[in-house]
Amino acid sequence: MAPDQPDRERRDGAAGQSCRPPRFYGRRKGKPLRQGKQELIQNLLPDLAIPTPAAGETIDPIALFSPPPSEVWLEVGFGAGEHTAAQASANPHVGLIASEVFLNGLGGLLKHIAALELANIRIYPEDVRKLLPSLPDACLGRAFVLFPDPWPKKRHAVRRFIGQGNLDQLSRLLAPGKELRVASDHPIYIEWAQEQMAMRDDFKPVLTTNLRPSDWPPSRYEQKALEKGVSCTYMAWARV
Ligand SMILES: C[S@@+](CC[C@H](N)C(=O)[O-])C[C@H]1O[C@@H](n2cnc3c(N)ncnc32)[C@H](O)[C@@H]1O
Repeated sequence: MAPDQPDRERRDGAAGQSCRPPRFYGRRKGKPLRQGKQELIQNLLPDLAIPTPAAGETIDPIALFSPPPSEVWLEVGFGAGEHTAAQASANPHVGLIASEVFLNGLGGLLKHIAALELANIRIYPEDVRKLLPSLPDACLGRAFVLFPDPWPKKRHAVRRFIGQGNLDQLSRLLAPGKELRVASDHPIYIEWAQEQMAMRDDFKPVLTTNLRPSDWPPSRYEQKALEKGVSCTYMAWARV
C-alpha cells in the first residue's frame, strides 16, 4: 500500500467497509443526453431501478423479477450495456442485476432494454458496493466485471474494483461452483487481477484466454480495444 494514500481512500479500497459510503472515483456524467435517453431515464428507469438499501436491509434478488428467474447474475459497471442486454436476451430464465454509475451508460442499457423488450434486467444505478452487503449469501449464479477502469498508476491501485474487499463480497455472494468473469485489455490490470485472485483459496481459475468464448457477448470497451489492435484477456474463476 502506498504510504501517501489518504486514509479515506485506503478504507474505500476495502469495499467501502468503513461506516461511510464508499467514494466513487469514476465519471458520473458525460456528454448531454439525447432526448430519447433522457426520456428513458425519466420514464423507464424508475420501473427497473433497485433503490439503495437501508443499513442492515436484506434484499431478496429473486423477488426483484417477475416471473422469478432460475438464477440471478450480477454485472458490475456495464458501460453502455451491450453485454448485459445480449446476456439477458440469450438467457431469458436468468435475472440480471446490472450496476452502473455513468448516466450516459444507463441511457445506453435502457435503449437496449426497450428495443429488445427485455423483462429480466434490474438496474442498480449507483456504486454497486452500496448494494452488495444487502444481498444474501450464495444468491448469485454468475458475476461479471468486464473491462473495469484500470487505474494504472500504482498509487491508484486501491481504486481498482478487483481487490480483496470486493472479492470478499463476491465470494460470499456467488454460490459454490459459480463463476466470476473478468475481462481487460490493460496488461497492468490483467496481472493485478490474477495476483489478487491467486491470493485466495475460495476461487479456482477456470479460464484465461485471448479468444472471447462464444457465450461471452462483446462489450463497448472490448470493441474499442480491438479496433485499436489491443488484445483482450478473458478470465474466469469458479467459487470453490
Ligand atoms: C471502463 S468502463 C467498462 C464498461 C463496460 N463493462 C464495457 O466493457 O464496455 C468501466 C465502467 O465501470 C463503472 N464502474 C466502476 N466502478 C463501479 C462501481 N463500483 N459500481 C458500478 N459501476 C462501476 C464505471 O462507471 C464505468 O462505466
